[in-house]
Amino acid sequence: MLNLMNLDQEKLPQHIAIIMDGNGRWAKKNGKARVFGHRNGVKSVREVTEGAAELGIKYLTLYAFSTENWNRPKAEVTALMQLLVTTISKETKTLSKNNIRLKAIGDLENLPGNCYSELQKAIDKTSHNTGMTLILALSYSARWEITTAVNKLLNDVKAGDFESSNVTEQDFSRYLCTSDFPDPELLIRTSGELRISNFLLWQLAYAELYFTEKLWPDFRKEDLRDAIINFQNRERRFGKTSEQLEENSSND
Ligand code: FPP
Repeated sequence: MLNLMNLDQEKLPQHIAIIMDGNGRWAKKNGKARVFGHRNGVKSVREVTEGAAELGIKYLTLYAFSTENWNRPKAEVTALMQLLVTTISKETKTLSKNNIRLKAIGDLENLPGNCYSELQKAIDKTSHNTGMTLILALSYSARWEITTAVNKLLNDVKAGDFESSNVTEQDFSRYLCTSDFPDPELLIRTSGELRISNFLLWQLAYAELYFTEKLWPDFRKEDLRDAIINFQNRERRFGKTSEQLEENSSND
């Protein structure tokens, strides 16, 4: 169990998104092949999922495989897909035991058949769970998501299923793969890289960004807690001034 010292239970982000980076470098540091880093990355996925659920986080999105990752050496892509299949099928019971519902976003039809079917099975089996929602971003990129949304919207317009002549932000959000989830308030990226890398570009509009030097396979529950504490110490202004925020909270 996590030591919850310094954590404000009232100010927990309800959605955390993570760019899990540094598996390759971690493997290299240990004199091993890249896939060894990915395998150890799975341990961090387990830790962080459990930690987030223990803390009462409602949504956790993990960037597990990007559209661009298809360009990696074929052997690495195959190993990653295999790892996904075995992890998803092995962990489904544990997810249910912890009342966690699994979801996925991305160009899922592009996944190998066995990966897609294992994923779908796990999503179905955990669909009635009511605790945290774990969202895997697989074959995902934000530009893919946004262009796909625009095309769906165009099709609806052509079919006469979109009645207004004006598209609002709320209308557009409904066409994204994340339409069922709130936007993340906190984005964590490991391994010292300071980029968004085509991840949730629309949804991260107001997210707090947290970067850590830790490589993903070294990331533990305590690191998640530190990121949340850091988040809680920030002032989220949403374009307003500090004085306006103080005024609003004194009116509460
Ligand atoms: C980034 O490290 C990591 C990935 C591209 C894959 C992440 C996948 C896992 C942690 C395993 C499977 C996940 C689940 C959800 C079961 P990198 O390879 O880009 O590292 P580098 O930048 O050091 O080369």
